Amino acid sequence: MKKLAFLPVAALVGILFLQANPKPEADTFHAMQPEAPALPAEVKAIVQQKCYGCHNPQSKNEKGKAKLDWDALEAAKKSKSLATMGKIKETLEEGTMPPARFLESNPDKKLTAEEAATLLQWTTGKKK
Ligand code: HEC
Repeated sequence: MKKLAFLPVAALVGILFLQANPKPEADTFHAMQPEAPALPAEVKAIVQQKCYGCHNPQSKNEKGKAKLDWDALEAAKKSKSLATMGKIKETLEEGTMPPARFLESNPDKKLTAEEAATLLQWTTGKKK
């Protein structure tokens, strides 16, 4: 009889332990997944304004869409997205995006120096 009295205590300790560590396995699982690069809000805002128009799954700009689709980039596995981010970095360094011809009629779409720097920083994975 005395031994059984410990059972509820053991159960209680077990419950308390689980509550202190809600789903510990979820985080471990998360850490093991090759992650898509989460677009920071400031990056997303710039992309939305200056890049997304041509680089989205419904874009009528077939060439632009084929080269880069931001939605796919966000959903991609890390290994694949790293290559794409390398390309993005190149276009930023060379200043080739948005395309010059497009900017002639849409000068407001040109990246400001600050925006370019923000995007560039994101592609290199460095924090500000
Ligand atoms: C007016 C439409 C348009 C806008 C706006 C635009 N792009 Fe592009 N982008 C294109 C086209 C078209 C291509 C394909 C160019 C080619 O193949 O020569 C392309 C290609 C690219 C590529 C692939 C380059 C390569 O060598 O594979 C990257 C990366 C890219 N764009 C990034 C961006 C970024 C970043 C922005 C926003 C700052 C942006 N683009 C805005 C039309 C656009």
